[in-house]
This record gives sequence, structure tokens and C-alpha cells, in this order.
Amino acid sequence: MKKLAIAVIPGDGIGKEVVPEALRVLDAVAEIHGGLEFDYSHYPWSCEYYIEHGEMMPKDGLEQISQSDAIFLGAVGDPSLVPDHVSLAGLLLKIRREFQQVINVRPAKMLEGMVSPLSRPENFDIMIVRENSEGEYSSIGGRVHSGEDEVVVQNAVFTKKGVSRVMQYGFEIAQQRGGSLTSATKSNGIAHSMPFWDEVFNELSANYPDVKTNSEHIDALSAFFVTKPQTLDVVVASNLFGDILSDIGAAIMGSIGIAPAGNINLNGKFPSMFEPVHGSAPDIYGKGIANPIGQIWTAKMMLDHLGEPEMGALVLLAIEETLQQGIKTGDIGGNSNTKEVTDAVIAALKRKS
Ligand code: NAI
Ligand code: MG
Repeated sequence: MKKLAIAVIPGDGIGKEVVPEALRVLDAVAEIHGGLEFDYSHYPWSCEYYIEHGEMMPKDGLEQISQSDAIFLGAVGDPSLVPDHVSLAGLLLKIRREFQQVINVRPAKMLEGMVSPLSRPENFDIMIVRENSEGEYSSIGGRVHSGEDEVVVQNAVFTKKGVSRVMQYGFEIAQQRGGSLTSATKSNGIAHSMPFWDEVFNELSANYPDVKTNSEHIDALSAFFVTKPQTLDVVVASNLFGDILSDIGAAIMGSIGIAPAGNINLNGKFPSMFEPVHGSAPDIYGKGIANPIGQIWTAKMMLDHLGEPEMGALVLLAIEETLQQGIKTGDIGGNSNTKEVTDAVIAALKRKS
């Protein structure tokens, strides 16, 4: 029996509604598989936890989850209780940083049964590989003087190590998919970091002769996500560029409610963390109408990561069959609730196994 220890952190808002649903899907996967067992540990870390304890997670919180095979997270943030910069920094960003989850992967794929806002969407299937630890999101910089004389400097940080590892990860995924790798650059406008980015990309390309490569400036590439996403396969990008591209990716899929993501640790010292792209959606929390597909697709990415790609593929097929049947939540034009969608995904899974 293969036993996988999963640290479960539902977090806030609809995280508390969609995480238990995705766990039901994982339980069905274990049943179908026969030789797989999930050992869940549940952690109530959230804004409510903060109100009670004065912190988002206990002092030894990271230690408590460090031995798990993966972390499965819902969403963090309830601005009515705790300011966002405090809650996200105290839980989500802390895990990403301390567990050296240096890469963020987000698929953008046209699912069967989804309606894209693009008027003539062709089948696209993009994997965005975003640098998750440095780049434009650095805290180096400062402000001096005030009024008319105020000066603000924000530094971006690009290290050879950081750039190489995110690109290598992109090349490897492109190789596995038998596809191509597009690098998001802006070396025609950003004088130092992006020419360096291009240099490392060209250097590394030599090691992957079977992967077709190209570089696109971020402005043009953003447009291609809208005008011809079917021409893109794996896209590697810096922290800021990847952040923006993955939001466009979620948008062209038809709803943020279905978009999954993984925060990947590469050195094997700490677990990786899987979480949907969406937040805690306080506007719909408590009504039982949140779309569970983002969290369920996130579970699929976790299965792939934990060496169960066949089970992962089955989950995605079950999601698509459910969408094709028109069993959808309100955000994507249906009138089913969270539980009904999950039930349909589980029924489809069982039919397919
Ligand atoms: P949000 O993603 O929570 O919601 C944006 C809009 O999308 C809302 O109208 C919401 O109802 C809808 N939506 C999101 N997920 C949905 C789902 N599964 N089904 C149906 N509709 C869905 O982003 P927002 O409103 O900016 O942030 C709310 C809170 O979540 C804030 O505290 C924010 O900081 C936090 N947040 C946390 C993230 C994380 O944990 N990774 C990511 C984004 C936001
Ligand atoms: Mg974003």
C-alpha cells in the first residue's frame, strides 16, 4: 500500500467549502486505485485562528507539516478579520518562502464543456512555469525625500541559480510533453535583467536539442494568449510576467473558479504545496455555491506530482465529463451547487475506472 501524508489547510472562506469536496474526490481515487492511501492531517490555520491565537499558524507550524508528502491548501484571506498583507504573509507566503517553493506552475487549458470568453477559441493547452522566489517581487529598494523631491527605487533581483532552475524545469516539462518552450522576455525595454534572462535561456537550450524554443516579448506574448493561445505549449516567465500571464490564462479558460496551481519545491528538502488560483471569495462564502473544480483540478496536479499521473488524468477526464453534462456552478453559467458538481465528478470517475 502506497501511503501519502497530506497536510490539509482549508484556510478561509470558500477554502473551507471546496477543500473537503476535493478530499472526497481523492478518497474516490484511492478506492479506484486500490493500492493508494491518503493520510490527511488537518490544520485550522486561518484568519479565525489568528483572532484566537494572534498568529496565522503556531510557532512550530512549519515543523508540523514539514514531513508531509504534500500540502493541500484552499485559500487564505478574510479582510473583515485580518488585513490581507498580514494573513497572506503569515501563512501562504511563509510556507512558499520557507519551504523553498521556488516555482509556480499553472495550466491554462481549454476544457471540454467550458465556455471561453474568446469568441473563436481553439483547443489550447498551456503550462505556465513562473519563477516564484525572486525577480521583480523583491523587497530591495526604498523611498527618500518627500513631496516633489520624492524618489522611489524598487530593485528586481535575478540570480543565475534562480533563472537557471526555473528554465530547466520548463525545459523538462516541455520535453515530457514533447512540445515547445516559450520564454517571456522584455530585453528590448529592460536593459539588464532581461538580456541576462535571454542569455541563460539560449545557454540552456543547447542541453535540450529536442525542445523547440522561442522568445517573445511580454507585451506581444500577452496578446498571443488572447489571439492564438493554441500555438503556445510551455511558457517560462519571471515572477511578475508569470503572475500576469497566469491570470490571462485563467481568464481565457472561462473562470478563475476552475484554475489550479502548484508551488514546487525542487531540492526535496520540503514538501510542495498545491492550491487553486482563486482566493477565499467572501462574496459567495457560506452559500454552498463555490465552484469546486479549481480545488479538484489542484488535487489532480498533486496526484501527478506524487507519481500518480494516470489517476490525475482520470480526474481531469471526470471534470470534463461533468462540465459537458452541464453540471456547473453559477460562475460558469450553471445552477448546480458545490456538492452536486463534486458528486457528478465522483460518479464520472467511477464510471471511467
Ligand atoms: P477571489 O479569487 O477570492 O474572488 C474573485 C471573484 O471570483 C469573486 O467574485 C468570487 O466570488 C469569484 N470566485 C473566486 N473563486 C470562485 C469559485 N471557486 N467559485 C465561484 N466563484 C469564485 O479574489 P478576491 O475577492 O480578490 O480576494 C478575496 C480574498 O482572498 C482576499 O482576502 C484575498 O487576499 C484572498 N486571496 C487569496 C489567495 C490565495 O490564498 N492564494 C489568492 C487570491 C486572493
Ligand atoms: Mg495573481
